[in-house]
Amino acid sequence: MLRTDDGQTIRLEDYRPTDFAVHHVDMLVRLRDGAAEIRADIRLERREGVAMSAPLVLDGDELVLTGLWLDGEPVAPERFDATPERLVLRDLPARGPFGLRIETRLSPETNTQLMGLYRSDGVWCTQCEAEGFRRITYFLDRPDVLATYRVRLEADRASAPILLANGNPLESGDLGEGRHFAVWDDPHPKPSYLFALVAGDLDALHDRFTTASGRDVALAIYTEKGLSGRAAYAMDALKRSMIWDERRFGREYDLDVFNIVAISAFNMGAMENKGLNVFNHKYVLLDPDTATDGDYAGVETVIAHEYFHNWTGNRITCRDWFQLCLKEGLTVYRDQEFSADERSRPVKRISSVHGLKAQQFPEDQGPLQHPVRPTRYREINNFYTATVYEKGAELVRMIETILGAARFRAGMDLYFERHDGDAATIEDFLRCFEEAGGIDLWQFSRWYHQAGTPVLTVSERFANGQLTLRLEQDLPKGAAGTGTEPFHMPIRFGLVDAQGHDLALEPVAGDAEVEGDVIHLTERSAEIVFDTGETRPLVSILRDFSAPVTLRHDQRREDRLALARLDPNPFGRWRALTDLVGEMLREAALAEGAGRAVRYDEAVLDALCRSAGDAALEPALRALMVTLPGEAEIARLVGSEIDPEAIHRARRGALRALNAAGGAGFQALRSTLAEPAGAFSPDAASAGRRALRAALLPVVASGLASPAPLLGEFEAAGNMTDRLAAITALVHVFPASAEAQAALAAFFGRFETDALVLDKWFTLQATAPTDDIVEAVERLRAHPKFDLGNPNRARALIGGFATGNQRGFNRADGAGYRWVAERLAELDRLNPQTAARLATAFRSWRSFDAPRRAVAEAALRELAGRKDLSRDLSDILTRTLE
Ligand code: TRP
Ligand code: ZN
Repeated sequence: MLRTDDGQTIRLEDYRPTDFAVHHVDMLVRLRDGAAEIRADIRLERREGVAMSAPLVLDGDELVLTGLWLDGEPVAPERFDATPERLVLRDLPARGPFGLRIETRLSPETNTQLMGLYRSDGVWCTQCEAEGFRRITYFLDRPDVLATYRVRLEADRASAPILLANGNPLESGDLGEGRHFAVWDDPHPKPSYLFALVAGDLDALHDRFTTASGRDVALAIYTEKGLSGRAAYAMDALKRSMIWDERRFGREYDLDVFNIVAISAFNMGAMENKGLNVFNHKYVLLDPDTATDGDYAGVETVIAHEYFHNWTGNRITCRDWFQLCLKEGLTVYRDQEFSADERSRPVKRISSVHGLKAQQFPEDQGPLQHPVRPTRYREINNFYTATVYEKGAELVRMIETILGAARFRAGMDLYFERHDGDAATIEDFLRCFEEAGGIDLWQFSRWYHQAGTPVLTVSERFANGQLTLRLEQDLPKGAAGTGTEPFHMPIRFGLVDAQGHDLALEPVAGDAEVEGDVIHLTERSAEIVFDTGETRPLVSILRDFSAPVTLRHDQRREDRLALARLDPNPFGRWRALTDLVGEMLREAALAEGAGRAVRYDEAVLDALCRSAGDAALEPALRALMVTLPGEAEIARLVGSEIDPEAIHRARRGALRALNAAGGAGFQALRSTLAEPAGAFSPDAASAGRRALRAALLPVVASGLASPAPLLGEFEAAGNMTDRLAAITALVHVFPASAEAQAALAAFFGRFETDALVLDKWFTLQATAPTDDIVEAVERLRAHPKFDLGNPNRARALIGGFATGNQRGFNRADGAGYRWVAERLAELDRLNPQTAARLATAFRSWRSFDAPRRAVAEAALRELAGRKDLSRDLSDILTRTLE
């Protein structure tokens, strides 16, 4: 068990309901420059059977108590104890509701943690998940305490003409002396983490939506002054999300208004507060000149995600924070399905899987490993992870695969019907699918409890007209120390003939159940036999990545090459090609490291060229197929004793080899994909063409003798997608050139006042492959536009370097590690949550070669040994070093 300095480990097995229930909260919030006064009138009641001696213990965090009343009478000092972290009241009524009035005074301007009530560019806003409400008032700040809320806001009309809170607007008016007020009422009982208010001088984009049952909903997206025009795509995505949830899951919106506010200083992506979603402005503001197609897709996803939380998260919330995946995994699954329906299903699936392998797999195989439903934590903010979100979504997807679409929908319907208004658990969720699907998910539930990425080993035997598939699963024991029992693994597959058709073959023998195209592997190993006749089929296994496993399939190289060309399943095609390319790069990196001759497989290069030019495939898919794995991805394939310099050289070499194999064709293809100036549309098909153009650019650039054409492309670009692709190639392939410097200066000059574009400018430079990169990021840190207190800017520079510049961060002299460690120490004093998140960049330090391990460990130990680290950062460092 993890030992902690403050002894503060929270355990699932210790869960018990609160002694007191909260029925209603009435808040009066008075906002003034420099101070905010909060008056919370909380209606409480001792739960049945709770002893009279039980005190009421309320959570706080850096609070200043200015007044305390019980049923209208001031509370005598001997009946309570107040510290910034806790308010304890004794001798409260034995039965029946009572009212507690708590007054606190806050200082939003000095709240740099961005949790609780803070100011972002002058706008008052709140962030309460997971434990931020206790920074506003003393409360039973946990998700199983559900109450209705009414909020009255008072502020100067000049600085805050807009006053927003959860629910529906009730009344508003003038208070004289330049002050005004607004009252908001939320009739839906909710946990405190969904509380929100916003006050400021904001512009708005308005629209309307009528739900299937005829409710007229006023929609608004609030932005910084002058930027509401950039919210049009977000508004469109919102309306599409609302329709989709009605059609796909039968879920309607349930208030008269739905408001979204875009904020510049924000710890994460966005927050699903009831009726008042608050967003990092990165996931709202877009136009073709400042945002890439990737940004458009991100906005669509995050808008949908937060909207979908209204049912999966808000109406049905979590009993405790161990159940976080109940809302997050499920809601990610829902937003992925939305994007798949709105754009391209195979392209969406491939990008989700690519992201899962890049983010979640390393987490699941390193020191920060934890089960999808953890059983203990020190700091809950550190569990908003790829494992809870992305692997959590994979588990929901596997339930769908196991049950089939109809029974899955029946299970969801039952979940919504049975648990609406509840604070539920994973067990509650699974029971709905067991009942609606008539199936036992006991073995399946291990996916929630056992940490680590299972390995699925597949081998083929072909003899006497029979193909035998042998499947074996293994879960290596990892850092989390949870079980290694076999999973119920749904494995989607196809047997493909030489013309690229799926063969309709039923197994003739075997010890695993096969249902249509899904093998249910439930034992450690199983064999399945097919009568194939004399021609050996191609085995397309784990289609659509039907289970989140590491696949080891000792497939013949010619079979892979054939599947890369003709698997009718697009995911299978992508995977076959990606596996071949990965293997080629892994071998090249090992050869580079050992000083051996490097060769790049002609057949694989040829397959890449062919895929790029295959007009039968949508361009977005071709873009995914021809993009070589990044350096971090190659490092994962190498696995241990990683030498980032060798990987860098191997990847460079592969780009040049690919250019030599197909450069002329790529140039021609790129020009056929170019769109006429001024014809920008963000739709998926147009974005796909731009993606393919951009994917080919680094290849073409690797063969250029001079950077001039890249500068030309940068200058001619009519949208941010093309512009960023060009300047990235320029700065990454010709970093020292005058052209690169000129482009960077022009880019800065044009977008100097645009925060979101400047973030790209910082990241672009932090990821450049130069030998003096540590010195370069240090210069950028001193740049007047750098602001450690703004999480997007901090992530752009520090995160860009630590996670986007493998060679620089892992420099053998340790300068990269030390620079990041120093930044984390500084940031921790301002914003522990963001510091802790950035610190996860160190999670794979043990996979590097010995000299790097030594300097990484030294930098980590030096940081971990500093005084007054936050619980957030020290939790990550302790686990990373364990
Ligand atoms: N619940 C949010 C989501 O996934 C994310 C979230 C959790 C968050 N904690 C936060 C956002 C703190 C901002 C700040 O949709
Ligand atoms: Zn979420």
